[in-house]
Amino acid sequence: MKIAAVVGARPQFIKAAVVSREIRKNAKVKEVIIHTGQHYDENMSRIFFDELGIPHPDYNLGICGGTHGENTGRMIESIEKVLLKEKPDMVLIYGDTDSTLAGFLATVKLYIPVAHIEAGLRSFNRKMPEEINRIITDHASDLLFAPTETAVRNLLNEKIDKDRVKLVGDVMFDAAIYYGKNVEERSKILSRLDLKPKEYMLLTVHRAENTNEDNLERLKNILQGIADISKDTSVIFPIHPRTKKIIEKIDLNLQNIKAIGPVGYIDMINLEKNAKLIATDSGGIQKEAYFHKVPCIILRDETEWVELAENAFAVLTGAEKEKITDAFRNFKFNDNYDTAKFYGDGKAGEKIAEIVLK
Ligand code: UD1
Ligand code: UDP
Repeated sequence: MKIAAVVGARPQFIKAAVVSREIRKNAKVKEVIIHTGQHYDENMSRIFFDELGIPHPDYNLGICGGTHGENTGRMIESIEKVLLKEKPDMVLIYGDTDSTLAGFLATVKLYIPVAHIEAGLRSFNRKMPEEINRIITDHASDLLFAPTETAVRNLLNEKIDKDRVKLVGDVMFDAAIYYGKNVEERSKILSRLDLKPKEYMLLTVHRAENTNEDNLERLKNILQGIADISKDTSVIFPIHPRTKKIIEKIDLNLQNIKAIGPVGYIDMINLEKNAKLIATDSGGIQKEAYFHKVPCIILRDETEWVELAENAFAVLTGAEKEKITDAFRNFKFNDNYDTAKFYGDGKAGEKIAEIVLK
């Protein structure tokens, strides 16, 4: 049996690592990894393959840097060529990026079964490029692996056939458990940056709505709010290349915010675990905050991971300076982590592999 996996962006390398490890336990299965090239810097791509112990991609299509349409179109063309050559029995796609959509479209048109991992997430904000990618992908994939009960409900509300939907839990939770072991021994980032456990805040910003070149108000407001916080607490900001390019252009004053380049996953888990608080617009990082029992400010107006804000493990502030500083100073975060279990049992990868191979 041959399985192909299409990946392209940072969080997809982490998700695919979890599933790939389980699939490769079966000696009769060959997995072919197709990297679209969407993320390409050393510390946005290669470092994850090195650290997470998954084989380097069999194909790197080198497609990046264009508009949504350019990237997606070129990816479909190139992925189709690989699929025609490799003839896999099934294709796995992950998350909601342009690489996900391209992998999906190339596959269904060749009548190859396709499985979507992390299906059913909805922000109900159609201005997000990811929301469109999710809706299209979910409506015609053969297997939909949902991470949460909310995701299952979203799919059933859209009249998607329930036989295609499998609630397996979140592969990112599996990753946090598996790669989170002994992380303090493997990562030296705290001493390198002179950070003391629980005395700093971790910040990430990369969402399109917060880094829009034509409307910089949101990014300015976020950074003003965080700069205010940084007068009391040091802030560490591993900066996404997209955000870095914008900040350089507009010359925003980061004041006491310490900006560094993107870090590998092991360093990131260590930074997360030891943070006093995390502020982020990332889908993955807001959950990792919860996995590692750290309160989280979500720098968005809405979230797909509704369980966190509904239960006060996190708070949604949008991009409003006052809301951000108020959340930092006054919000009563729920610290009763043991009572909640939203994201499965840490065996999502195992369940996905079992169903796919069957
Ligand atoms: C993409 C996904 C987003 C996901 C994020 C994970 C889409 C529509 N968006 O957003 O859902 O949350 O990845 O990080 O697919 N760049 C570099 N080097 C890199 C990668 C990117 O310089 O290695 C710069 C380029 O200028 C590029 C820009 O960042 O044009 C945006 O990259 P892109 O992959 O289009 O979107 P992300 O913001 O990374
Ligand atoms: N991440 C990382 N290094 C960084 C920033 C993020 O390893 O410098 C990891 C993070 O721990 C999480 C994933 O990348 O597992 C999230 O990716 P990102 O925020 O880019 O995308 P999203 O989850 O929003 O799609």
